[in-house]
Amino acid sequence: MSASQEKPKKTSEAINERVKALLARMTLTEKIGQMCQVDASAGYAPDYLGEDLRAGRIGSVLNVVDVNAVNELQRIAVEESRLGIPLLVGRDVIHGFRTIMPIPLGQAASWNPDLVAEGARVAALEAATAGINWTFAPMIDISRDARWGRIAESLGECVLLASRLAVAMVEGFQSDDPAARGAIAACAKHFAGYGAVESGRDYATTNIPETKLRNVYMRPFNAAVDAGVMSLMTSFSDLNGIPATGNEFLLRQVLRDEWKFDGFVVSDWDSIRQLQIHGLTENDRESAFEAAAAGVDMEMAGDAYNTHLGELVECGRIDINDVDVAVANILRAKFRLGLFESASTDPEALPSIGNDHALETAQQAALQSVVMLKNDNAVLPLCAEKLSSIAIIGPLSDAPYQQLGTWIFDGDTDLSITPMHAIHSLVGHDLNVRYVRAMEHSRSKVNDAFDDAVEIARDSDAAVLFLGEESILSGEAHSRADINLPGDQAELVRRIRETGKPVIAVILAGRPLTLTNIVDQVDAILYAWHPGSMGGPAIADLLFGVESPSGKLPATFPRMVGQIPIYYSQKNSGKPATRDNIVHIDDIDTRAPQTSFGMSAFHLDTHFTPLFAFGHGLSYADFAYENIRVSADQIGLGDTVTISADLVNKGDVAAEEVAQLYIRDLVGNVTRPVRELKGFKRLRLEPGQKITVDFQLHTDDLAFYGRNMQRMTEPGEFHAWVGGSSEAQLRTEFRIAAGDQ
Ligand code: GLC
Repeated sequence: MSASQEKPKKTSEAINERVKALLARMTLTEKIGQMCQVDASAGYAPDYLGEDLRAGRIGSVLNVVDVNAVNELQRIAVEESRLGIPLLVGRDVIHGFRTIMPIPLGQAASWNPDLVAEGARVAALEAATAGINWTFAPMIDISRDARWGRIAESLGECVLLASRLAVAMVEGFQSDDPAARGAIAACAKHFAGYGAVESGRDYATTNIPETKLRNVYMRPFNAAVDAGVMSLMTSFSDLNGIPATGNEFLLRQVLRDEWKFDGFVVSDWDSIRQLQIHGLTENDRESAFEAAAAGVDMEMAGDAYNTHLGELVECGRIDINDVDVAVANILRAKFRLGLFESASTDPEALPSIGNDHALETAQQAALQSVVMLKNDNAVLPLCAEKLSSIAIIGPLSDAPYQQLGTWIFDGDTDLSITPMHAIHSLVGHDLNVRYVRAMEHSRSKVNDAFDDAVEIARDSDAAVLFLGEESILSGEAHSRADINLPGDQAELVRRIRETGKPVIAVILAGRPLTLTNIVDQVDAILYAWHPGSMGGPAIADLLFGVESPSGKLPATFPRMVGQIPIYYSQKNSGKPATRDNIVHIDDIDTRAPQTSFGMSAFHLDTHFTPLFAFGHGLSYADFAYENIRVSADQIGLGDTVTISADLVNKGDVAAEEVAQLYIRDLVGNVTRPVRELKGFKRLRLEPGQKITVDFQLHTDDLAFYGRNMQRMTEPGEFHAWVGGSSEAQLRTEFRIAAGDQ
C-alpha cells in the first residue's frame, strides 16, 4: 500500500477535509453528543454508558483508568454507534500518572524546560497504558498568592518562567505528533486569571484590568496556544463580573479572533451550570446558552448541553453553525490523535509503568527542584565520614503518600522512596541513623513525643527535621489563611534548637510557607515542595553532598501572610519603600508622635522585602557574577541586543546554577514592573571555571500591551541585571532609540 493509503496524512488540510465530511453526516443529536463529556468513574462504565454511546450522545469520558473498561467504551463507540466516532478519554495527569514527579510548582523550581518536558512525556506514556488520550494539564495560572491551594499545581508567579514551562509540558504530553504512541492531548488551564482569586480563597472572584490580563495572566496561555496545545479549560472563576465559562471576550475575541486557536475549549467540572450560582443566569437553559454563545465547545460532567442545546438550536437562539464549529474543533483533535485509525490500547505495546527511565526522570526532577534557602556556616552538606550519628525527626520524613503532593489520583505509593529510607540506604552503614516521627501528621498539636525527639537530637551530631504540609493542605479547594507551618511544628523546632546541635530543616509543602517563626532557629533549609516518588533519594543525595542544590524559587516567600500579594515584578508605586524611609512598629518614638513616617509603600510591622526572593536558591558551589556588558548602548526597534556577564564558580565543588536576566523598562505607556525576567540558563561549572553567559534580547521581547490594548515596544531607557536571583545587583543599561522599525 502507498504511504498515503497506509495512514491518512495528518496535515491540517487533510484533517479538515475529513472533519467536514464527517460533520455533514451528523444529526443534531450526534453533534451535541460530541460536546458532552461524562464522568465514567462509577462502577463498570460500559454498562451504564453503553446506551448513550450507541446513540452517539457522548463525545468524551473522564475518570476511567481501567484499560479494559476504556477499550470496551471505545469499542462500543466505534463499532456500535451509527458513525463510529471514538472517544476522548480524559484524566488529571498533572505531574505524573503512576510515577509521580514533583508538584508543578516544584518542577518550576528546576527552571529546566527540557527536564519538565521529559517529566510530561513520561507521564503521558504511563497514562496511555490505561487508554487515557487527554490530560487536563498543564495548569498555567500565574499564582502570586500562597494562600491559594492551587499554587501547588501552578508554575509560579513569573510570566516568562511559566510560559516557557507551559510550552515544555505541552510538548512533553503531545510530542511532535499527537498520534504517536504514548502521546496524549494537553489542556492548558484554567483560562483565565484564576490565580488572582480574592484573598487566595479558591473559586472566589477575580477582578483583573485588561492590561494586566494581557500582560500577565494570558501570556502563558498565548504561549501554549502558539505551541499547539490541543485544548483549553475555562476557569471556575468570575472574571470582572462575567465568569470565564460564559466569557465571550476570553473565548472568542482573544482565543479565536486574536490568537487563531484551532483546538477545543472544555468547561471545568459542571462550570456551565454554575453560571446560575454565580448569578449570571436564571437556569440551566440560560447557562447552556451563555456558554455555547461564549464559545465553550465541550461540557465537562454536567448536563446543560445535552438537555438544552438542541432546543436552543431549534428555536434559533444558538446558530447551528456555532455548533458545527464547536464539533469541528473536537473532531479535529480526535483526528490529530489518530483515534479514527486506532482507538484501542495495548498496554504491552507501551513502556512498563515505573520503569528505570521514569524513576530516573522523577529523581532528576526532584533533585533539581529542591531549593536551598539558607546554609549558615556551611552546615550542609553533611559529611558522613565526619559524623557518627544523625537524628531524623518529623512527620514528613517517612510519608510515601504525602510526599507525592496534590492531584495524584493514580500515584503508586509503592514507587515512593521516602527520605528516611533513602538516608538509611545512602549512609546507614556508616552512620547511626536515629529516627523519631515526633508528630502523627503535620497538623498535630500533640507533642508527647517531643521529648524523645529532643533526646535523639541531643545524642546525635546533627538533627534533620522533616517538616511542612501534608498533601491535603494544598490543591483545589484547600486554601489557607495562615501559611505558617501547621500544628506544633514550630514548637518542635524550638525544642530541637535548644539542644545546641546543628539543625537542618527539610520542608515538604505545596506552597511557599511563612517561615519567619523558624528561620532563625535552623542552620539550613532545603525546600523540597512535594517532591514526588523519588523525593527521598534526591533529598538524601543533597543532604550528604552527592549532588548540590540547584533549584531557584518560582514564587516569592513572604515574611508574613499580610504581605500577600507580594511578587518580584511589582510596580514601583509613586512612593516606593526603601531601606531608609521605613519605620518599624517597635521603633516608633511615642514621645514625639509623628503623623507621618516614611510615607512610603511599607507595613509598620514587617520589612517590605520578602523573606526569600523569586529566583533565590543557594548552592554548595560559590557562584559569582562579574563584568556585565551590553553589545550596544543604543539599538533601534527591531534590533537585538546581547547582554553578557561572566559567571565564576569560586567554590570547590562542581554544581549547576541558573543564571537569570532581568530588565526594567523605566518609562512606559502604562507603568512597567520594577523587574521582569527576560532570560534564564541552567549551567554546570567545575570548581574555578569561568564562563560568559550571553542573553540575546530582541526589542519584541520587551513588548507589552499599552493603555489602548495595543501591543508595543517603546523607545526609551532600560536597565538590565544578570545574577542568581531577582535581587541581582550587577547592572547595565541600554536604550531603544526612536525611529523606524
Ligand atoms: C476540577 C478542576 C480541574 C480538573 C477537573 C477534572 O474541578 O478545577 O482543574 O481538571 O475538575 O478533574
